[in-house]
Amino acid sequence: LPSHITVRDGRLRIGEHDTVSLAERFGTPLYVTSEDRIRENFGRLSGALTAHYPKIRILYAAKANGNLAVFKTLASMGAGADVFSAGEVALALAAGMRPESLLFNGSSKTPADLALAVEKGIRVSVDSPDELRQLDAAAGKEGRTVDIAFRVNPAIEVPTHPKIATGLATSKFGIPAGAILDAYREALALEHVNPVGIHCHIGSQILAVEPFAREVEVLIDVAGDLRDIGVDLSFIDIGGGLGIPYRRETDQAPTPEEYAGAIMPVFLRGIKDLGIEPELWVEPGRWLVGDSTILLSRVNSVKTAHKTFANVDAGFNLLVRPTMYDSYHEVVAANKADAPAVREYSVTGPICETGDILAKDRMLPELAAGDIIAVLDAGAYGFAMSSQYNSRPRCAEVLLAGKEAALMRRTETIDDLTAAMVTPPWQE
Ligand code: LLP
Repeated sequence: LPSHITVRDGRLRIGEHDTVSLAERFGTPLYVTSEDRIRENFGRLSGALTAHYPKIRILYAAKANGNLAVFKTLASMGAGADVFSAGEVALALAAGMRPESLLFNGSSKTPADLALAVEKGIRVSVDSPDELRQLDAAAGKEGRTVDIAFRVNPAIEVPTHPKIATGLATSKFGIPAGAILDAYREALALEHVNPVGIHCHIGSQILAVEPFAREVEVLIDVAGDLRDIGVDLSFIDIGGGLGIPYRRETDQAPTPEEYAGAIMPVFLRGIKDLGIEPELWVEPGRWLVGDSTILLSRVNSVKTAHKTFANVDAGFNLLVRPTMYDSYHEVVAANKADAPAVREYSVTGPICETGDILAKDRMLPELAAGDIIAVLDAGAYGFAMSSQYNSRPRCAEVLLAGKEAALMRRTETIDDLTAAMVTPPWQE
């Protein structure tokens, strides 16, 4: 278990808090996030990178966890953000991040997104020549110039789930290396966009460092070509993607030091050869927040049929990763954390679909209604991908810092379900 998850007197703890007491106090289902752990993760990753090179910028990949309190935690550590939507821009700015520490990413930006970037002075990662022309026009209309990067598609295979491998030649993201120079040439010729960076992201939950090193090689090649056509690069953004060991027994996850050790020498040699000194930007999401959070749920009933099911009160409405990507999340019986694992259970949620399984065929202690199940490593793409499917109000989120515990999101109510609904006049 990570150092902030421990067991005392048979009960699972997170930081200085007993998870069973948290479940009783705030109710279940419940997301619980350790602010201390996010700070520790940020410090570790930042330290590993800056040990090689001082000009590092960490842009939190905001999609991983969109709670304002998480943004604030990271903002206070000096993080910027990789933002993909007007909502993420608003949250990042509300958390105190400065517009110049954001990068507006995405392959399908609306005219309103582009106008927002122009208005706020946010750099844009441009995904196509079409978008480039639209952005130039939008900036021209305001008499402004926007700093941009292009997103490069490096055509790199990565060992991860196909739905989250983003740098494949066939993926929808970025401009192929073969077309990238023309894109920059066009940007140089336009009046209201200023190409100052290169952006890339090869995928997520990557448990090897070689793909990142290869990615940096590709970007250094591009940087060389860009220098030759007169682009003055102020940053190279290699995206996020560093994975975490969801299967602690078997996953060989690179440490931040190993990650930095693989990419930084390639980067440093490359920029030295080119005689340039751009900042290196990274966009981690999962690595910063993934292990900071657990999802607590209560067993409603236990049923033995052809196998044994523990029916809990959280399903893929709250954590879709197991259903969507066949992801593995460790589960612990929080109130019986010392009890021997005696039976195989599938931990299943309340949603009316067979795929609503949080954990399949796991050896756990004898379970009964009322027991608390903790799903670990739920901080990245957990609450962020939740829904109200089956008309279930979303659950609360609690933030912990030292001995403090407080809501960072209240439980939704039935009224929240209907809040945005409008009655068509003929039904009034
Ligand atoms: N930068 C860009 C441009 C991205 O698209 C992403 C993630 C990241 C950074 C952060 O990647 P990370 O460091 O978190 O791996 N919902 C999926 C993951 C989707 C990732 C999407 N893009 C999951 O639950 O595994």
